[in-house]
Amino acid sequence: MPRYAYVNGRYVDHREAAVHIEDRGYQFSDGVYEVVTVKDGRLVDAKAHMDRLGRSLDELQIGWPVSRPVLEMIMAEMIRRNRLHDGLVYMQITRGVAPRNHAFPTGDVRPALVITTKKMNFAKMTKFTEGVSVITLPDQRWARRDIKTISLLPNCLNKQKATEAGCYEAFQVDPKDGMVTEGTASNAWIITEAGELVTRPATHRILNGITRLTILRIAEEEGVPFVERPFSVEEAKRAREAFVSSATSFVTPVVRIDGEPVGDGTVGPICRKLLAGYEEYAAGLRARGAEWPDDIPADEGDGTSRAA
Ligand code: PDD
Repeated sequence: MPRYAYVNGRYVDHREAAVHIEDRGYQFSDGVYEVVTVKDGRLVDAKAHMDRLGRSLDELQIGWPVSRPVLEMIMAEMIRRNRLHDGLVYMQITRGVAPRNHAFPTGDVRPALVITTKKMNFAKMTKFTEGVSVITLPDQRWARRDIKTISLLPNCLNKQKATEAGCYEAFQVDPKDGMVTEGTASNAWIITEAGELVTRPATHRILNGITRLTILRIAEEEGVPFVERPFSVEEAKRAREAFVSSATSFVTPVVRIDGEPVGDGTVGPICRKLLAGYEEYAAGLRARGAEWPDDIPADEGDGTSRAA
């Protein structure tokens, strides 16, 4: 059975799938994307992902290539055609194809849409049970990390450094204040000595993860106290537990930071509780998941932060 990709209106053999050389995504990274987990053949947090996609498109003044309901139908069809049980759907929308010129093309240029799927065996992933290591690296990205653009070169460079250091992820650190922003492809979390769950508030400095939003809901339901505020590398190293979250990482415990053990260097109880809650949610056994917020402020503002 061929693996299908969807490219601008056609379901094609993944090996043959191609886009035009003057696609603005290829030339300028002028596009946005989403990665949505598929569990038991169902999209996890589909609505919130589509809401975030709509916001990313609006922020870059790119139109929907097809209407939102049609896009949802195409995603469902990709899951069906590729017999995807567990894995992910990747979708990418670029401004379209036009002769190379930095300014947006004028005239009738249609945004380009590409969708692929990937099978994953979440049940066999040892990162959930054994935890992972991270290193800390300077965050070298632009000022609008809240937009999920395909412009990921600084993320790739830091992920590569982490990989070369034998680590799963990097905690990226704002060089101005020493505070952790997020991972290269995930959000960063700690559980303090006092047992409080801490993650950076959703501002322009991080991508507001859909998994992050669902985990905050699970924490609320499970009675895990949390606060949304920045934390430093030093605080992370003193933390009782730490983890990263994303559509493909769920709750992945971090057991070493820069080679130093977090807590006793093993997966802790809060990580286990949140992962179990997230797995239940992804399997459709819990009602409340991510809800996309109305507003994302530019920065942390007056220092007040959401807590429970
Ligand atoms: N990345 N921060 C960054 C920089 C990310 O790239 C991601 C996700 C997240 C977590 O977002 P979510 O919970 O919505 O997956 C945070 C995806 C998985 C990727 O690029 O493959």
